[in-house]
Amino acid sequence: MLFKQLFEPISSTYTYLLGCEETGQAILIDPVLPTWSRDLAVIAELGLRLVYTLDTHIHADHITAASTLKRESGSRIAHPAIDALPCTDEPVREGTPLAIGGLRIDPLFTPGHTDGHHAYRVGDRVLTGDALLIDGCGRTDFQNGDAPALYRSVRETLFSLPDETLVYPAHDYEGRRVSSIAQEKVRNPRLGGDRSLAAFVALMSELDLAYPTFIDYAVPGNRECGACPADVPEDLQRYCKQMSGSRQG
Ligand SMILES: [Fe+2]
Repeated sequence: MLFKQLFEPISSTYTYLLGCEETGQAILIDPVLPTWSRDLAVIAELGLRLVYTLDTHIHADHITAASTLKRESGSRIAHPAIDALPCTDEPVREGTPLAIGGLRIDPLFTPGHTDGHHAYRVGDRVLTGDALLIDGCGRTDFQNGDAPALYRSVRETLFSLPDETLVYPAHDYEGRRVSSIAQEKVRNPRLGGDRSLAAFVALMSELDLAYPTFIDYAVPGNRECGACPADVPEDLQRYCKQMSGSRQG
């Protein structure tokens, strides 16, 4: 498998490129609108062809590049079936692996950050979206977020994966790139150790986080698989514009 962790600096999102070396087929997980052409260039350089995009959830902090990549490359839009987005070409659900050539992606239903959130296990790696971050987790105060559900998703679903499974989150704001299930079980300050459900719920209710800057535009845009709403104000246009010269990752 070819695997690349690409970074989008406006929303500090990691986009994952997975490619099958035998068939040349590739998938992008959580692609971000401003970096769509960078991602396609990386795919072309590797001699791959984009067949699918796939999101972990309906994002509130950026707009997915799914529909732009479909238009530009002919890729199909895979998305959790539970979100019932009319623009989805390939609905995914736990129990039904998605095949990319010889690669197998296993969706894991991990609600709590949003009610439709899925993580994706690929061999000895798991892409945890916003359910489990390195030393953290996604917030639970919007998009039908539910702290008890997130506690169960992480502690019962993700922490039941083998300890050596590598954890690749959808974001990191401090430049960290990878962790493991064993490390998060021990060190995660919100969900690790002997943290109880009640203590986690209390902690999440006391975070007092700011209202998300882009949520009022990102959520409707992502419900259309990545349309930039017409009313995005000037100071937020950077979320919609293609970035040039970004070759991080
Ligand atoms: Fe999110």
